[in-house]
Amino acid sequence: MAHDKQLRVLTPDGRPPDEQPKWRKDFPIDTAQDNYVARRDFTKFMVLISGSFVAGQAWIALKTLGGKHTGPGPRPIARVDEIAVGQAAIFAYPDEHDTCLLVRAGQDEFLAYSNKCSHLSCAVTPDVSSGRLLCPCHHGSFDLATGRPLAGPPRRPLARIVLEVRDGTIYATGVEERTV
Ligand code: FES
Repeated sequence: MAHDKQLRVLTPDGRPPDEQPKWRKDFPIDTAQDNYVARRDFTKFMVLISGSFVAGQAWIALKTLGGKHTGPGPRPIARVDEIAVGQAAIFAYPDEHDTCLLVRAGQDEFLAYSNKCSHLSCAVTPDVSSGRLLCPCHHGSFDLATGRPLAGPPRRPLARIVLEVRDGTIYATGVEERTV
C-alpha cells in the first residue's frame, strides 16, 4: 500500500527545509528526533533514580540502627573503685584530643560519651542528679542514659563510647557514631 502521508520535517526555526541556511542543510538535525525521549528510556531513568534513592535510605537506616563502631580497640580508662556512684571522670579516646566523659550512674552502670556537643562542639558536662548532660553554650541538654538530645539546638546524639568492665577495670572499646 502506498504511503501517501507526507512526513513533515521539523526545523528549529519552523521555516521549510529549503529555506534553511546552507550550513544547516549541510549538517541537518532532526529537532523532533533529537528532543525525543523514548518512554522506555524515561522508565529506565526513573527506575535508576528510584533504586538509588531506596539504596541511600537503606544505608541510612542500617547506619542508624546499628551505629558505627570505630576506635583503636580496648584501652583501660579507669578502675571501678576510683569512681563513686554519681561521679564522673574525664578521659581521652580514641586519641588524646578526643575528650570523653565517664559517668557512674549506678553501682554497676557506667556510661561514656564524647564530651563534644553535637551542635557546635562545646564541652558538655554531666548533671547526674537530673539525668542530663548539659551544654553551656546554647543551653543544649542530652539524656544521660542515651546521649540523645533533649533540649536546645542539638539534633544529633553524642557519640557513645562503648565500655567493657573486666577484672575491676573499665575499658573503652570503640566509638559509636549515631545520627538519631
Ligand atoms: S554548642 Fe552545645 S548547644 Fe550549641
